[in-house]
Amino acid sequence: MTKVTDSNVPGASGAAGASGAAGGAAVDWAALEAAAVAAMENAYAPYSKFAVGAAALTADGRIVSGCNVENASYGLTLCAECALVGNLHMTGGGLLRAFYCVDAHGNVLMPCGRCRQLLYEFRAPDMELMTTQGIKTMDQVLPDAFGPQHLEETR
Ligand code: THU
Repeated sequence: MTKVTDSNVPGASGAAGASGAAGGAAVDWAALEAAAVAAMENAYAPYSKFAVGAAALTADGRIVSGCNVENASYGLTLCAECALVGNLHMTGGGLLRAFYCVDAHGNVLMPCGRCRQLLYEFRAPDMELMTTQGIKTMDQVLPDAFGPQHLEETR
């Protein structure tokens, strides 16, 4: 049985450390906000009319982003964060150091519950999120989270 350790859990320090040149570095929140707004402008939201853009800084210094993409079968809607994590993997993978999400007015938007879980999977140990209450950690935004380590515990 493979034991879960820091080096094989995506959000733990080992994985981040491998490429984490920016780990712990100051975050350019204004650049992230601009990337989130630019992403929001690509939203496909004809049903809710609620455009969303999300952007994140990776641990190795890239910016990844995404917009929401709705569907005539409403429940199939993809949140902006879904596109963001797809973009993360399409551009080299890694972990997320900082996250910013905006609505159509450019105001900070809290990620929905499902998307907090998506982000948790790819968090860097020092991940921070811009929230309506200021900068918070992943643990503050999704306390007592379920993660890859729990899968191993019952195997
Ligand atoms: N939405 C996101 O893209 N991300 C969130 O975290 C919250 C909700 C989108 C889904 C849907 O297209 C629209 O916002 C209204 O719920």
